[in-house]
Amino acid sequence: MHASDIEGDLTEVLVTEDEIRARLDELAARIEADYAGEDLLLVGVLRGAVMVMADLARSMRGHLEMDWMAVSSYGTSTQSSGVVRILKDLDTDIQGRHVLIVEDIIDSGLTLSWLRGNLESRGTASVEICALFRKPDAAKVEVDVRYVGFDIPNKFIVGYGLDYAERYRNLRDVAILAPHVYS
Ligand code: PRP
Repeated sequence: MHASDIEGDLTEVLVTEDEIRARLDELAARIEADYAGEDLLLVGVLRGAVMVMADLARSMRGHLEMDWMAVSSYGTSTQSSGVVRILKDLDTDIQGRHVLIVEDIIDSGLTLSWLRGNLESRGTASVEICALFRKPDAAKVEVDVRYVGFDIPNKFIVGYGLDYAERYRNLRDVAILAPHVYS
C-alpha cells in the first residue's frame, strides 16, 4: 500500500520507504562491523518488527539467525504499562549467544526495558537493541539502544509494520495518522 492509496487517512508522510531502506543499509553495515567474527541472533518482536527484520536481515551480507517473540504489554491500546506477558517465546536457546533485539519503535521504552532484562537473565553473551524509530519525548524509562534509525516526534504514526487497530502495517512509508481516523 502506498501513501497515495490512503491519502485521506494521513496527515503527512514522515519517512519514505526509500529513506527507511537507506538507513537500514547503514545500520546493517554498522552491525556487521560490530559483530565481525561472532554468531549473531536477531530477535524480532512480533508483530510490528516484521518489516524491519525482513529488510535489515537482507541488508546484511554475512550469516545470521533469526528468531521471534511475541509479547503483550498490559495497558490501553496506545500506552503500555510496563507489565509484559510473553505470548510466544523464542525457539532458540540463547545461553552464551550474542542477541540483537529488532524493534519497529520505542515509545515509552517499557517493553524493551523489560525484554532486555528477560533475555539477559537467560545467560546471553550480550543483548543489544536495534529500533527503527524512537520517540524521545515519550520516554518513561531510559533504554540504551545501540542502533536507532530515526528519532521522531511524539505523534501517532503508522506504516512499515506500525498499526492502528491492526491496519496500516502494509503501508510502505511511515506517516502521521490523521486525527479523524482515531478520534
Ligand atoms: C509496539 C512496539 C513495541 C512497543 C513499544 O508494539 O512494537 O513493542 O509497542 O512501546 P513502549 O516503548 O511504550 O513499550 P505493540 O504493543 O503495539 O504490538 P505490535 O508490534 O504487535 O503492533
